[in-house]
Amino acid sequence: MNTKSLSDFYSNWSQLAEQKSAWQNTTLQSLFDADSNRAERYSVSAAGLELDYSKNHLDEKALSLLFSVAEQADVAGAIKKLLRGDHVNATEDRPALHSALRFEGQAKTDEQKSVSETLEKMSKLINSVYSGTWKGHSGKVITDVVNIGIGGSDLGPRMVTKALTPFHNKKVNVHFVANIDGAEISDLCAFLNPESTLFIVASKSFSTLETLQNALTARQWVLNSGCSHEQLAKHFVAISSKVDKAIEFGIDADNIYPIWDWVGGRYSLWSAIGLPIAFAIGMDNFQKLLAGAASMDSHFAEAPLERNIPVLMALIVFWYSNVMGSNTQAVLPYSYHLQLLPAYLQQLEMESNGKSTTRTGDKLDYQTGSIVWGTEGTNGQHSFHQLLHQGTITAPIDFIATLKAHHSLDHQHKFLFANCVAQSQALMAGRDLETSKAELESQGLSEEEIAFIAPHKVHPGNRPSTTIVMDALTPETLGALVAAYEHKTYTLGVLWNINSFDQWGVELGKLLGTHVTTAIDTTDIPTDWDSSTRKLIQAFNDANKKF
Ligand code: F6P
Repeated sequence: MNTKSLSDFYSNWSQLAEQKSAWQNTTLQSLFDADSNRAERYSVSAAGLELDYSKNHLDEKALSLLFSVAEQADVAGAIKKLLRGDHVNATEDRPALHSALRFEGQAKTDEQKSVSETLEKMSKLINSVYSGTWKGHSGKVITDVVNIGIGGSDLGPRMVTKALTPFHNKKVNVHFVANIDGAEISDLCAFLNPESTLFIVASKSFSTLETLQNALTARQWVLNSGCSHEQLAKHFVAISSKVDKAIEFGIDADNIYPIWDWVGGRYSLWSAIGLPIAFAIGMDNFQKLLAGAASMDSHFAEAPLERNIPVLMALIVFWYSNVMGSNTQAVLPYSYHLQLLPAYLQQLEMESNGKSTTRTGDKLDYQTGSIVWGTEGTNGQHSFHQLLHQGTITAPIDFIATLKAHHSLDHQHKFLFANCVAQSQALMAGRDLETSKAELESQGLSEEEIAFIAPHKVHPGNRPSTTIVMDALTPETLGALVAAYEHKTYTLGVLWNINSFDQWGVELGKLLGTHVTTAIDTTDIPTDWDSSTRKLIQAFNDANKKF
């Protein structure tokens, strides 16, 4: 295998690489001072979202270099391949057809027909639970639904369910269990009645340790309430591509919902994996979520690269990652209900693009997936914004804001939105030494005090951000937002010439986990293991000696 560089793929790479030094003397503020129309010029609207990328270190020259990269990478062709079902996941020889999960109109393809059938089956299940037709083993109606899953079988449904809280119909309470840490399922079950609880075992592989262990615990909890093995089916449904394994677990074949190989786990919330979402908001709103994503799919398919929201989002990260030298990106949703979005995007972007081998198996010598992190605003302002404003790391930031709230505290929504805008303004404009001195002088400090404090109050500014605005957080706008990030992630994979849809890197840890578990169970710790691993296992066994 030889090692690939970006200059192997892009003829204009040397010009792009020079841009970092070229931008040393150009500030964001100067770009706005020079062009009163900059915000308008560097904003794009589609599918209910507006992307304002004007507060980034980009001008016509930089953008033309980036669009040339996108053309050389044949992003337009790659979009077509993704959406028509080419096997873009080459190492697993599969398509990545999450867009088919939200197709619109008459079902034509086999995938679309399967999706329609599954949505119909989901609707029947939900209606039977809502109506009380579906009862537990002792005849009680179902009051609580618990999704047992992890990764893509948890993060997406959990995030969307939280994000759409204002749309919950409260017909059942929806909960999530993911971690193998027994604390999560114990804490939850302490508040639930097994006789009126329905568990969704969500696992594409039906072999994920965490999910199977939690499902076994749930099964015993239900059995302990007097349920017979024959009646277990009244308390369990499953979503999996491994039907035989689900039946072996004890789930009735009629209660197993499909998830197909052409749907990646982190791209699956639109499938039956979205059952908890649909339980929480109802199928009509679930369909609106799908419609919002479909609207973004159409935009992604049809908009020219220069006006294509996911493509622009990808090029901005590519620019900061590979030209400007940043290895992290922050997502700061100014919305309490979007508080789980950063965690969801961590799996979406980092499990998709945390790769170091090209699609053809060559090593690569450039940065690919960056560290995605964030938390909802305004909380972050009282946590890590100090570093964003005065630290030594510059991170591209996505601010996400809504113009309207679903609650009646309009004045608080005003403060929330104002802070979001002010943060991006402060990061961009900064505050220089003279201004800091003048402020301290106006507070009556002595010259000596001013000289000492003022340097600490300087905000360098010139720090980038993108702001995504929507009228309100609804099933439609949330669907469009998530689909935009899915397509951004894929576009970055195309630019980096990597496969965004496999995840071979999660296997070694899982394998060694079984070996460590065996060493704990047998107390026979391999002598050729490193002393740290050996010492840690020994400490666990000493602390948990059973005698
Ligand atoms: O993290 C590895 C992974 O396979 C993810 O890609 C996936 O979303 C998660 O584990 C859960 O997998 P499953 O749905 O098969 O239980």
